[in-house]
Amino acid sequence: MMILLTVISVLLFGQCFADIYLHIPRGSNNRLNEKTGNRKNANRVFDSQNNNKGGYNVGDKGENPSNNEGEQYRMKYFQSGPFKSLNNDAGKSFLELEWTNQHGCGGNEDTSPQKQNCHMILQYMCQDDVNTPTGTADTLRNGQRTDTQAYNRPQSLTETQAQTTARKNNAVQQEEVLQEPWEWYDKCFVRERNRGLFTADQKLKTNNGLGTSSAIYTRENPNGNRYGYECPEERDYFPYWHPTPWKDIAVLAENASMCSYYKSKSFNTQMYHECVEFYTPGGARRPYSKWNNQAQCTQNGGQWIQFSNFLEKAPAYTTEAACNAQSKGGLTYRWAVPYDATSVTKKECLVQLDQPDCKEAQYSRSNHLGNGANGRANSYMWTLPYFPSAKAKRCVFRMRYNISTDDYDPYFTDSSSNQQLNPFVQSIIEQDPYIDLGGRTALRMNINTDQTGRQFQDRSHVFFMSPRAGAISQTDRIFNLNVRGKRGNIVQTYPAVEYDFHPNTLNMKPSDLVHIQWTGSNTHNNNNPAGDGQAGDEGQGKDGSDRSNIVEIKNLNDNFPLPYESTTMWSAADVKWIYSGSTAVSPKDLAVIMSSSGYYKSVNEAKTKAAMNPLLNNAPASFEGAVLKFNRGTYHYMSTRNNNFSNRSQKSTLIVS
Ligand SMILES: *[C@@H]1O[C@H](CO)[C@@H](O)[C@H](O)[C@H]1NC(C)=O
Ligand SMILES: *[C@@H]1O[C@H](CO)[C@@H](O)[C@H](O)[C@H]1NC(C)=O
Ligand SMILES: *[C@@H]1O[C@H](CO)[C@@H](O)[C@H](O)[C@H]1NC(C)=O
Ligand SMILES: *[C@@H]1O[C@H](CO)[C@@H](O)[C@H](O)[C@H]1NC(C)=O
Repeated sequence: MMILLTVISVLLFGQCFADIYLHIPRGSNNRLNEKTGNRKNANRVFDSQNNNKGGYNVGDKGENPSNNEGEQYRMKYFQSGPFKSLNNDAGKSFLELEWTNQHGCGGNEDTSPQKQNCHMILQYMCQDDVNTPTGTADTLRNGQRTDTQAYNRPQSLTETQAQTTARKNNAVQQEEVLQEPWEWYDKCFVRERNRGLFTADQKLKTNNGLGTSSAIYTRENPNGNRYGYECPEERDYFPYWHPTPWKDIAVLAENASMCSYYKSKSFNTQMYHECVEFYTPGGARRPYSKWNNQAQCTQNGGQWIQFSNFLEKAPAYTTEAACNAQSKGGLTYRWAVPYDATSVTKKECLVQLDQPDCKEAQYSRSNHLGNGANGRANSYMWTLPYFPSAKAKRCVFRMRYNISTDDYDPYFTDSSSNQQLNPFVQSIIEQDPYIDLGGRTALRMNINTDQTGRQFQDRSHVFFMSPRAGAISQTDRIFNLNVRGKRGNIVQTYPAVEYDFHPNTLNMKPSDLVHIQWTGSNTHNNNNPAGDGQAGDEGQGKDGSDRSNIVEIKNLNDNFPLPYESTTMWSAADVKWIYSGSTAVSPKDLAVIMSSSGYYKSVNEAKTKAAMNPLLNNAPASFEGAVLKFNRGTYHYMSTRNNNFSNRSQKSTLIVS
């Protein structure tokens, strides 16, 4: 009986999902703007392995669904100031990331044992903002339709530069989402896969059409399915051993003892090599090479080049001495070849990235999406970077959730444990094996060898990191206060969540600033197909529309806003920056702005402009908001539209002490 029980618990384990869903910033789970509960295209930009029903639509600026990229809303977070030489946290901009993961992570082996090993990797990618909404072929964008960018492989590895360019131009569409650049996938497609990896008994395809079993084939992706321009081998392994376009923020490790390894091997810190080949001797660099190691690279006429990651480039400094001289105040500059260099002999001045933060993952409960310690969803306080160029940046955020079992040593098992045919060697784990319990019936186990050891992922839509503006100083601390959730009731939104403010209780000092901002979609109708959930968009106001606003309430048990005369919040606020540009805003103006989601810019406008719908239907779905400083006090507030007693509560507290 004991044996049976053990086996059954393994059976259950094999079945489960272990998805990850980002709520702050809103994770797309590959959605764009579809009105359906299910996302339309799971291959749109990355491989999430999540439930089709997860994710949030891209934000709309106005009251109507956006027809083009320019009408989409991008969250705008103010960058940190040059904080590194300052004391305490002065100058930092904080964004508290929030997510739910389904299969548990973190915790202490003795008091709250987990049922698998796990770690999380938080990363981002930024580039200079450009003037047009969709930019050029390489600009980060969300796209206007849900299709995946196309890709065609090279006809031969001796194609001309014109042929490479034509392939790229034929593939990349301005109206479609782009995160990793086209060249990133082209590289991955051509490059031989790492043959030292453990692939169990999975049969990875051996020919990408060019005769190579390349980095698009992995144990988890044996058929080489494509998701946007994500590279499967890079997706599945961290730290990756070649240059990547991602910057590491943090690793939430299974055990803090692994942190020194992650920190030193992160591409933020360590430079990695790639084989570089040329169209003609001494000519332009090909974006790809078949060789993944130095010996084969150089034997075949390539150059094995070491590349550096960077926060941004500093082209003003054109010599090594001038570049190094900039390293001060905690910032480091590095004279090196950037990973995206077109000329591999030319070093450039690069602002170096910090080592990633690393700590043990917080506890979360197995099979309970969202239950972290004390019943809260897990979060990570991201200190946003400071960009010395003072340029506005377009960015995306990526989070991977990696789980593995102890059925084999997850860190020290390599290709020597793979199944081999001649002579036959059994993989140390097998697909759906039958276990003989000594009786007449063997029990079949649900073990997917492409899933024992598996990544889940979510990513944000495009957002901005902007230089500080208005009366915000370089030494102010800034907290971001946003809205999470989407239109619908609990089963209609799941595994996304209903509306709430985040952080739900924000503690700050009288010297701190808070950037209040939110985004919403007009197409969160959650219609069929709704997959494992219920179709529909219960809630107040126009179908499918997200709206939020802020009105002060006396205490959290109240559901009725205070009349303006009784409020204390707005007269306690000092406006440091506001969406309308003018900081000459009276407390009463501010109350009107916040309660109308920016529909009215002032009390005067509220008297003259066409009336706002009482359910905010004609108010904008997104609100760039304001950066405010508050006097000491405790302020409670809610959203009038979404708070509906016994149905849902969108109430929050700001404590300034
Ligand atoms: C982390 O690893 C160390 C060394 O193996 C071990 O002593 C410790 O108990 C582990 N910590 C947790 C939380 O599992
Ligand atoms: C996931 O964990 C495995 C260990 O089981 C490791 O080999 C792999 O590099 C990790 N991948 C990522 C993306 O974290
Ligand atoms: C509260 O929600 C219920 C259910 O969606 C709805 O019937 C009711 O009208 C809502 N109340 C208000 C004041 O909107
Ligand atoms: C709102 O709450 C009422 C009473 O509990 C319930 O009957 C109704 O179904 C709820 N509506 C929504 C949209 O959740």
